[in-house]
Amino acid sequence: MEIVFPLYVLIIFFPSLLLYIFLRKNRRSPHKRAKLPPGSMGWPYIGETLQLYSQDPNVFFATKQRRYGEIFKTHILGCRCVMLASPEAARFVLVNQAHLFKPTYPKSKENLLGPSALFFHQGKYHIRLRKLVQGSLSPEAIRNLVGDIEAVAVSALDSWAGGQVIDTFQAMKKFSFEVGILAIFGHLEAHYREELKKNYSIVEKGYNSFPTKIPGTPYKKALSARKRLSKILSKIIGERKEKRSNEKDLVGCLLNSRDDKGEILTEDQIADNIIGVLFAAQDTTASVMTWILKYLHDDPKLLEAVKAEQKATSQSNEEGNHPLTWTQTRKMPITYKVILESLRIASIISFTFREAVADVEYKGYLIPKGWKVMPLFRNIHHNPEFFNNPQKFDPSRFDIVPKPYTFMPFGSGVHACPGNELAKLEMLILTHHLVTKFRWEVVGSKSGIQYSPFPVPLGGLPAKFWRESAP
Ligand code: HEM
Repeated sequence: MEIVFPLYVLIIFFPSLLLYIFLRKNRRSPHKRAKLPPGSMGWPYIGETLQLYSQDPNVFFATKQRRYGEIFKTHILGCRCVMLASPEAARFVLVNQAHLFKPTYPKSKENLLGPSALFFHQGKYHIRLRKLVQGSLSPEAIRNLVGDIEAVAVSALDSWAGGQVIDTFQAMKKFSFEVGILAIFGHLEAHYREELKKNYSIVEKGYNSFPTKIPGTPYKKALSARKRLSKILSKIIGERKEKRSNEKDLVGCLLNSRDDKGEILTEDQIADNIIGVLFAAQDTTASVMTWILKYLHDDPKLLEAVKAEQKATSQSNEEGNHPLTWTQTRKMPITYKVILESLRIASIISFTFREAVADVEYKGYLIPKGWKVMPLFRNIHHNPEFFNNPQKFDPSRFDIVPKPYTFMPFGSGVHACPGNELAKLEMLILTHHLVTKFRWEVVGSKSGIQYSPFPVPLGGLPAKFWRESAP
């Protein structure tokens, strides 16, 4: 059967259709006009993942930046990504337009740590949790922890000394775990500490393993350990509720919080944030402290300068017979600059991940909705334009404050690290006792980096420690 259109349909309908198509085509401007950043997307499906893993990831990013400039696209780990290697771009994503870029983590990792942990969230819930976490880790709160951290540092150092070979990174992990526990719970009974440590270490092993629920695999074991952690935390929280104490540690802040409708946090929300903070606190701080020991060991002149600074503090405390004070930790300029330079050169968090929640245009380039966006902290920290001779370990470069957004070891913006003051405090306290009472020697001549998952010296920096006074 032949279909015949009346003439008026042709006259009215077809021009309307053409107009509609034209308007639709141009509706998405200005983004439609913007082009994708330069770069290559590699092979179908696998993208450039093999290139990333077949070399040092930092070399991968640095080579790309040299080739394409400060903004480039790639395809890794199944994700289409835009990499950003300039201070302005990092500021755009993390600070100025942060609402257009949401945090993004694989579901398997989110489930393991706890989906209510603050770093997976944006908006109202994130603001509420962040206030609580930030409050419990603020300088006003952590200044009360100096004595306790000192006790943990002294006991850790004593246990290393004796000439046996120590895996420095593993030893630092124990130290930063204990400090994390202090900030979260204050004084916690030893049996709870042990149970948390045991189960948390299983969770950690699963975190970087292949996510499968097949029995016996590290991921499945980690999920079971995570359930046990919830039970332990539930007991601790129950006891704290009974005591009705008004502690200012993280658990106290989480327990006492009420939102604008007077609602308290659920036990899962509290547990997820406790595990989340412990996770964020441990390996990061331990990796940086391991690098500090290496840099000091490799530069005897610098070590002498740090020693002199710390010995002067120790002398004013009658050869260490009085405890360190918060005020003293604020007056360690040489040691502080060693910490800053270690954070810069090691850049243990090389980049972070966000996801564009809409099409976004940046400097004429399109960042399509759903693409991952990665500010590359390490590339910025190693750019000679901002840090002269960037491969040289030179704490004196921090005599001058770095330009805005060129130094972001703790990130920037709404998700910037709330634990940065605590991390620096524990590094200062440990360094004080290390250089005033101990000496150490790195064992073996192997140099190189391992990813655990943050970069640390190969083998975790095997080293021997002695008490200075020992023969
Ligand atoms: C040297 C040690 C540390 C480094 C280099 C570090 C670095 C960072 C960075 C770069 C971020 C931001 C990540 C992003 O924007 O995606 C971050 C977030 C975070 N850090 Fe740290 N961190 C350290 C120690 C700590 C400590 C000791 C704690 C707690 C006691 C902590 C708790 C957190 C938390 C809870 C977040 C998430 C904040 C949010 O999403 O609002 N960090 N850290």
